[in-house]
Amino acid sequence: MKISVIGLGYLGAVHAASMASLGHEVVGVDVDPAKVEALSAGKAPFYEPGFEALLEEVAQTGRLTVTSDLAAVAGSSVHFVCVGTPQRSDGYAADLTYVDAAIRSLSSHLSPGEIVVGKSTVPVGTAARLAEIVSKAEPGAVLAWNPEFLREGFAVKDTLHPDRIVYGVPEGESGRRAAQVLDEVYAVPLTDGMPRIVTDYPTAELVKVAANSFLATKISFINAMAELCEVAGGDVTQLADAIGHDARIGRRFLNAGLGFGGGCLPKDIRAFMARADELGAGEAVAFLSEVDEINHRRRVRMVDLASDVLGGTVEGARITVLGAAFKPDSDDVRDSPALDVAVRLHENGAHVVVHDPEAVENARLKQPSLSYEPEVYAALDGAEAVLVLTEWRQYRDLDPDKVAEYVAQRNVVDGRNALDRDAWKTAGWHYRALGRH
Ligand code: UGA
Repeated sequence: MKISVIGLGYLGAVHAASMASLGHEVVGVDVDPAKVEALSAGKAPFYEPGFEALLEEVAQTGRLTVTSDLAAVAGSSVHFVCVGTPQRSDGYAADLTYVDAAIRSLSSHLSPGEIVVGKSTVPVGTAARLAEIVSKAEPGAVLAWNPEFLREGFAVKDTLHPDRIVYGVPEGESGRRAAQVLDEVYAVPLTDGMPRIVTDYPTAELVKVAANSFLATKISFINAMAELCEVAGGDVTQLADAIGHDARIGRRFLNAGLGFGGGCLPKDIRAFMARADELGAGEAVAFLSEVDEINHRRRVRMVDLASDVLGGTVEGARITVLGAAFKPDSDDVRDSPALDVAVRLHENGAHVVVHDPEAVENARLKQPSLSYEPEVYAALDGAEAVLVLTEWRQYRDLDPDKVAEYVAQRNVVDGRNALDRDAWKTAGWHYRALGRH
């Protein structure tokens, strides 16, 4: 099939390349010339495991072209809209400027029978509004909403082998046709038995924010238990293991630590609260504000722990922060808990040196006042405290005896419960963590 993908960020670029690898002819469009240039040269504009290999594979087939000219979408039977919906600068609501602009610009290039497919995360009610814009511009075109559930770090796998797929379509013949066309797009994963749910627009929009809200709640739940463990002398990792054995609860997403960040969970729960308020149902999701608060408190607690190990203040202390990305296997620093803690320490007068295997460039752009060191042992040199804030494999694998040779004092704070506590203690380290001793 001929497919267009509008917006080539983490979601759109991986979607475009994945669709090409499934055998479709894909044209990707983005307004950012740097992204277009990188992708046209077969280079990933961001770090995502497996993505560059996928681009190379797809380049051999010639099935993916990338441009900044939206007119190139003409003639595609399916148009995926993958632009961002960040948090608005004036409040919690989602900023729909890019989605609206993409749909409006796309509308003038549509022909009868074509399907516009929204993948961006939007407040419930958006799809119905956009459907009107589409049908006014081209009555023979249909809008479907097909939320994306990929995780950064696993984006390629999640796009090619999603654990479910959801289509929000209008009632009647046009909706049936849209579902049929999407079935053709996803024919390969569907034959693998992937579950598929066909529903209305509001349900499809809500599925996405409900899923992210649930995940955020799960993380904040275990972090709330960590707060209890801290005052009562418990161990949150053992607690998580124990409750996780109950299949109804499950162990995944119960990793206590510095909490959630990134371009999705934090802004999605806030946008959900804002939208629910607009709909007069704010009470239904009022608990999400507590979820956000718990998440925020972990960052404050992390700074307190750093201060504790340094004898009561971080001022003037040389602190190594390991991790700047919001999670491992990503170079994304949007709302990164690690970077936030690094900034707080810096503001409290610490001399902070930040290391990250992939995210230093992005971190430097966002927080130029911090010091960055691309080599991990150089970053550790002379540290009075080492803080592990993103659980990259490289940090999990650090040998505490070797690290001890570089630092000035053996103080380590494990912000992600990622280190082998006993090994670090045996090597003479003063080990502190969130939610355990
Ligand atoms: C999240 C969802 O997991 C995806 O399903 C969704 O498609 C995506 O948002 C999106 O809306 O586009 P992502 O932001 O890539 O994906 O990251 P997650 O793996 O969900 O992690 C989010 C944050 O939670 C990270 O900062 C991570 O360190 C933290 N986390 C995760 C924990 O603190 N504890 C855990 O147990 C799990």
